[in-house]
Amino acid sequence: MAEPTRAQRPAGVNHLVLNVADIERSHRFYTELLGFEHVLTIDQGMEMRFYRSGPGHHHDVAIAQVKEPPPPSDEPPRWRLGARKVGVNHIAVAYPDREAFLAQLAHLQANDVPFALRGNHGMTHSVYIADPDGNGIEVLYELPAEVWEGDVKRALLHFEALPKEGPGALEDDADYPVFVSREAR
Ligand SMILES: [Fe+2]
Repeated sequence: MAEPTRAQRPAGVNHLVLNVADIERSHRFYTELLGFEHVLTIDQGMEMRFYRSGPGHHHDVAIAQVKEPPPPSDEPPRWRLGARKVGVNHIAVAYPDREAFLAQLAHLQANDVPFALRGNHGMTHSVYIADPDGNGIEVLYELPAEVWEGDVKRALLHFEALPKEGPGALEDDADYPVFVSREAR
């Protein structure tokens, strides 16, 4: 009898590859708007570009040009959290700290990128936007583990909606609610 197998615990999600309609348009979005570094382009019958957050990473995101893109549309890309189509709901991109997150929100707003949804989770403060193909992008910073690790479930459930436009969309409250384990309460 062969030894039973079992799934190993993953170290985490390593990278994501998206099929895109217009690789130049998506390139500008992932570099100029989100701040990723372009590492490599390969074009062997299918053009792919690789991006990383910085040293220590080979790539976090890659994009691939689809052969038969949908016809160009004048409609701005839209995204809603509600699941409307099969596939990726959103990709979460973490910025290193609160300061970087706030600077990133100001950069998006200055470039007229609409905030589809903004709010505070128990473990991240987040803004959701659409990439040029309408894929959801969650721009976030992680709160200190001390505030959410005591009760991850309640931290995940917590959501406080916040303004999406104007100066109020760039304000962030650092008085984080702390989620403690039921035993500790
Ligand atoms: Fe998320």
